[in-house]
Amino acid sequence: MRAVIFGASGLLGRSVMRAFGDMTVTGTAFSRSAGALVAVDARSADAIAHLLGRVRPDVVVNCVGERRPAVWAGAPERACAGNVDAARLIAQGARRCGARLVHISSDYVFDGTAPPYRPDSLPNPLNTYGRWKLLAEHAVRGACPDAAILRLPALYGPVQHAAETNLTEIARQVAAGTPVELDDVCVRYPTHADEAAEVCRRLARALLQGQRLGSVAHWSAEQGLTKYRMALMIARRFHLPADHVRAGETDAASGDRPVDCRLDCQELPAALGPARRRLFDIEFPPAVEPWLTASGPAA
Ligand SMILES: NC(=O)c1ccc[n+]([C@@H]2O[C@H](COP(=O)([O-])OP(=O)(O)OC[C@H]3O[C@@H](n4cnc5c(N)ncnc54)[C@H](OP(=O)(O)O)[C@@H]3O)[C@@H](O)[C@H]2O)c1
Repeated sequence: MRAVIFGASGLLGRSVMRAFGDMTVTGTAFSRSAGALVAVDARSADAIAHLLGRVRPDVVVNCVGERRPAVWAGAPERACAGNVDAARLIAQGARRCGARLVHISSDYVFDGTAPPYRPDSLPNPLNTYGRWKLLAEHAVRGACPDAAILRLPALYGPVQHAAETNLTEIARQVAAGTPVELDDVCVRYPTHADEAAEVCRRLARALLQGQRLGSVAHWSAEQGLTKYRMALMIARRFHLPADHVRAGETDAASGDRPVDCRLDCQELPAALGPARRRLFDIEFPPAVEPWLTASGPAA
């Protein structure tokens, strides 16, 4: 079996590359195309067609996305193209080459007012990123109707720089000791990228075996935490002072962050078999520990 993972240099894509290790895998990158990763601009239909024509994959996973708020604000057209156009073009490419497609989406398609959200709950995104993720879902469904769309919540795992996840950014703030206010209203369900990648693998296998699944699937860890609660857990675990961390409403007050997008994930284990649940309390320390010093991890 051959797989192409678009966005393989990213947080989730790196985990998906490992999870698909029993297939012949080709990963793509954009700005971080080091090693074996193939440089592909997913806003280019030609670049996608060229790669897919060469590899002839059985399955494609789309982990391409632009989720950094600074980029949405600073270069909205570029960020929109990276989320929406790329999703449509990859879906068209997958369909043309006869590959099955797993497309990654986000819990931010919901407004966070009425959790838990089922795959058929009505989306109502509050911010630009959520609207792009929803537009991308529509584009994928239009271009490749039998694609599986997997919605995920906030991810964490081994990162390449502290700003790559909320969790590692919070760890830096705890360790820095400078006064900081962290939101204690909006609840996240931090999910390990390796757990999400394993779900992707199972989803891809099910599609390849011809299993009929709903077009949208949800996966999420079960423990809900605010950024402030995560900070306290980090401080407690690493015996760090937390008096400089104040509980606030920074995200909630912005009006564009959903308060609670808990995803109802009951359908997926029934379809794919029970997946290993990673417990946040056990999994977060190795993800944050390298980022508790001012210099970050040694290169
Ligand atoms: N991280 C989360 O908390 C989270 C939560 C829910 C859903 N998601 C979704 O999961 C997917 C993966 O997210 P992630 O956290 O792994 O993101 P990420 O770490 O920012 O990685 C994004 C990937 O997209 C690639 N990319 C960006 N623009 C591209 C372009 N024009 N052409 C080709 N590739 C491009 C990047 O390549 P380079 O880095 O090489 O430039 C990188 O490989 C996204 O759809 C995201 O919306 C993420």
